[in-house]
Amino acid sequence: MKKLWRSDRKLIKNRRMPDQLVRLVIVFSVLIASVVFVRKFVLPPDLKETGTHRTTAINRELGRPINYAGSSVCADCHEDEYETKISGYHQNLSCEVCHGPAYKHTEEPEDYLPPAPRERKFCPQCHTYNLSRPTGYPQINPIAHNPLKPCISCHDPHDPVPPEVPHECVACHAQIAKTKAVSPHALLDCVTCHTTPEQHKVNPRVVSPSKPTKRAFCGKCHGLQSKKKGPPKIDLVTHGEKYLCWQCHYPHMPEL
Ligand code: HEC
Ligand code: HEC
Ligand code: HEC
Ligand code: HEC
Ligand code: HEC
Ligand code: HEC
Ligand code: HEC
Ligand code: HEC
Repeated sequence: MKKLWRSDRKLIKNRRMPDQLVRLVIVFSVLIASVVFVRKFVLPPDLKETGTHRTTAINRELGRPINYAGSSVCADCHEDEYETKISGYHQNLSCEVCHGPAYKHTEEPEDYLPPAPRERKFCPQCHTYNLSRPTGYPQINPIAHNPLKPCISCHDPHDPVPPEVPHECVACHAQIAKTKAVSPHALLDCVTCHTTPEQHKVNPRVVSPSKPTKRAFCGKCHGLQSKKKGPPKIDLVTHGEKYLCWQCHYPHMPEL
């Protein structure tokens, strides 16, 4: 036994490990030692878990307050809005996109009321004309598109069908019709202001429609005496002096 040991030592002495191997062994030993040290004394216990998720992380996420109720719960109590929305253009919008996080409201409906975005600046967030949006996505220029009124006065937010614009004259007067469609006069029919004989559509250069000729014509809706709700009122006697209204206001786009 002793003999064997002695011969072994001799063997090692004669066949010395190459230097580079020795260095490698040292480096690896230090590495392994520090890994063992860090795992044992430095790492917090939950980092040593071998599962895919750390328990503390799961608990932390579970502990967060819930803000959003999700896209289906609202239907339980607001069947009307849900039914309206489900078949309309906004069918892919979640209720909380517009009404904000409403989890508290679903728990205690009377105590927490979610706001409704009634003001005009809300809708253009998604509908302002923007080159990078896909073709066909409904976009408008919020400065020119029926200014001054809230969007919801013409579009139901839960089913935003655009109101029917009168189209009968568009075939030949496309430019005027397009201009008018986004003006405060959008919902006025052309024939409200132009009495148009049927023959005009057949022989437009021979048979002409009428055109308003007097200030009083516009005064029917805009005069102080007018009973029409909606159109803003001016004093016919003083406003614009003696000039015709359309010397200052383009009737198909009457902006200020
Ligand atoms: C448990 C029933 C319930 C659920 C679920 C519920 N609501 Fe309501 N909500 C009500 C009640 C009740 C009212 C009416 C309170 C009132 O008129 O005073 C109301 C009113 C509203 C209003 C009107 C606030 C106002 O200013 O008039 C909005 C907007 C609304 N809810 C949105 C939502 C949305 C969005 C969801 C889904 C995240 C939702 N609700 C889920 C019961 C519910
Ligand atoms: C595009 C934005 C939008 C979406 C999406 C939307 N709403 Fe509304 N909601 C509004 C606006 C704006 C009003 C205010 C309407 C008004 O005052 O005429 C409103 C009003 C309401 C009201 C109050 C009704 C009233 O007569 O006062 C309820 C309730 C409501 N929404 C529930 C819902 C529910 C439920 C959903 C989902 C199914 C939903 N909304 C989706 C914008 C939206
Ligand atoms: C989160 C984005 C978003 C918001 C906010 C939003 N919309 Fe929309 N809107 C859409 C999408 C998406 C469509 C459907 C586009 C489609 O069908 O290709 C749409 C469609 C429409 C259409 C239909 C146009 C057509 O003829 O094709 C109108 C009108 C409209 N929205 C008006 C409104 C109004 C008014 C509001 C504010 C109460 C509003 N939108 C808020 C995303 C939005
Ligand atoms: C005075 C009524 C009125 C108001 C206010 C109004 N709109 Fe419209 N909107 C219309 C009419 C009418 C059309 C259809 C125009 C057409 O067919 O040429 C329309 C069309 C649209 C379309 C469809 C455009 C397309 O290319 O298909 C969108 C989107 C729209 N409106 C969004 C809005 C938004 C957002 C607001 C508020 C900033 C708003 N509207 C305010 C009357 C109105
Ligand atoms: C078949 C094509 C066509 C159709 C449809 C048509 N128009 Fe015209 N319209 C014309 C042409 C062309 C003129 C230009 C005549 C000229 O310059 O002498 C004109 C001229 C006019 C004028 C100006 C007349 C003048 O004295 O200056 C008015 C107003 C008018 N059209 C209104 C309408 C209305 C409103 C409708 C729908 C009810 C309509 N048109 C449908 C082709 C058409
Ligand atoms: C609010 C009333 C009103 C409405 C609505 C209206 N017009 Fe006019 N239109 C006028 C007046 C006023 C003139 C005369 C302008 C002038 O003499 O300078 C006019 C002039 C015209 C002319 C002569 C050419 C021009 O541009 O001056 C045509 C064509 C015309 N209108 C077509 C139409 C068509 C098409 C529609 C519907 C899309 C329409 N109008 C809607 C008031 C209106
Ligand atoms: C049938 C009724 C009617 C007639 C006729 C009419 N308008 Fe209007 N006018 C309206 C309505 C409705 C509005 C939109 C009001 C709103 O935005 O709430 C409007 C808006 C206007 C505005 C914009 C006001 C603002 O606040 O920006 C002007 C300017 C205007 N009209 C001028 C005229 C002129 C000029 C004529 C004559 C050529 C005329 N209107 C004829 C109904 C009428
Ligand atoms: C000399 C030019 C001129 C003439 C002519 C004129 N206006 Fe105006 N109008 C203006 C100016 C400028 C404004 C904006 C400043 C203001 O509110 O007084 C305006 C504003 C308006 C408004 C908006 C008022 C409001 O409160 O929002 C209406 C509606 C209107 N005009 C209708 C008419 C009608 C109808 C006629 C014909 C009877 C007419 N205008 C003639 C220059 C004129």
